[in-house]
Amino acid sequence: MENNIILKVDSIKKFFPLKGGGFGKPHKWLKAVDGVDFELKKDSVFAIVGESGCGKSTIARLVLKLLPLTEGKIYFKGEDVSHLTGEALKKFRRSVQIVFQDPFASLNPRLRIIDTLSEPFKIHKIIPKNEIKDRVVNLLEKVGLSADALNRYPHEFSGGQRQRICIARALTVSPELIVADEPLSALDVSIQAQILNLLQDIKRESAISLIFISHDLKVVHYLSDEVAVMYLGRIVEKARTEDLFGSPKHPYTELLLASAPKIRVKSQELRVESQKTPNSKLLTLNSNDVPSPINIPSGCPFHPRCPKRFDACDKVVPELKDTGDRLVSCHLYRV
Ligand SMILES: Nc1ncnc2c1ncn2[C@@H]1O[C@H](COP(=O)(O)OP(=O)(O)OP(=O)(O)O)[C@@H](O)[C@H]1O
Ligand code: SF4
Ligand SMILES: [Mg+2]
Repeated sequence: MENNIILKVDSIKKFFPLKGGGFGKPHKWLKAVDGVDFELKKDSVFAIVGESGCGKSTIARLVLKLLPLTEGKIYFKGEDVSHLTGEALKKFRRSVQIVFQDPFASLNPRLRIIDTLSEPFKIHKIIPKNEIKDRVVNLLEKVGLSADALNRYPHEFSGGQRQRICIARALTVSPELIVADEPLSALDVSIQAQILNLLQDIKRESAISLIFISHDLKVVHYLSDEVAVMYLGRIVEKARTEDLFGSPKHPYTELLLASAPKIRVKSQELRVESQKTPNSKLLTLNSNDVPSPINIPSGCPFHPRCPKRFDACDKVVPELKDTGDRLVSCHLYRV
């Protein structure tokens, strides 16, 4: 594995058993992640996008070892993480951190900020006890808060401030990889821009790689280096961000982009403009049409919604193929 690859995800699958199997009946499975591969370069941002239920958070949990894999392998800095135990596992837990969507639910309401932020230092015994407070103040400043926050409780902060505290907590252990699962979607648009800029600054200052999960394409366009578009548990297109946004190839990516508002980002400001045209109905996706991962359509899983489908589409599953500048799984792109 190349030295600059921090994470390699190799044909991973996660199936959840459904009720209704049992005596004499075959088990039915919900295929939340159904064969996903990607590599994350050091110091880069890899975005995963797609509609609700396509498997984004399941991938996050698998990468963090919060869920066991059904199949496949995950390598962190070349090492198969399923084999990690003892000290190596502890080190992995330090190196890979998560920032969740809901900054309130992920903070303990009974702990003061100083306690929340000192905890990782104590667990991992990173620095001497008498230096912890200074480090916590340092971290607060790094995320745009001050020492005033130390003795306060989570409910005393706004959503944006709480997300800053969660980001500070992730940074306590100097991680090499942060998985951010919809870190902005619970926040107001104006606050989203600030948190987005904070993530951008952190990325610039420290050599941290980021898996950025979002269904918000405008934010992904701004922050990521590479994007994987997922549909029903699989990647349907993977490309460098500018290539994907400049000329989407998969019909699903085209529709996702057409359905998304346009973005303009200036230093501290994030302006969202509607891109919808009068006949946009024809061009956009209806979230009520998403098929269920319990009954994945035959052939190309996207065929029931695809405006470009043709004869082969409901019969033959398209493979994810290298088309030169990117990977695409669609029969329109034959190599
Ligand atoms: N623990 C679980 N048991 C059973 N099914 C699950 C479990 N976790 C997730 N799923 C199912 O797996 C599929 C993928 O879920 P996941 O949370 O990964 O989607 P997502 O892309 O993160 O969606 P969203 O954008 O809504 O957060 C969904 O159909 C979901 O209902
Ligand atoms: S394989 Fe067919 S149905 Fe699937 S995205 Fe391509 S054209 Fe559409
Ligand atoms: Mg999710």
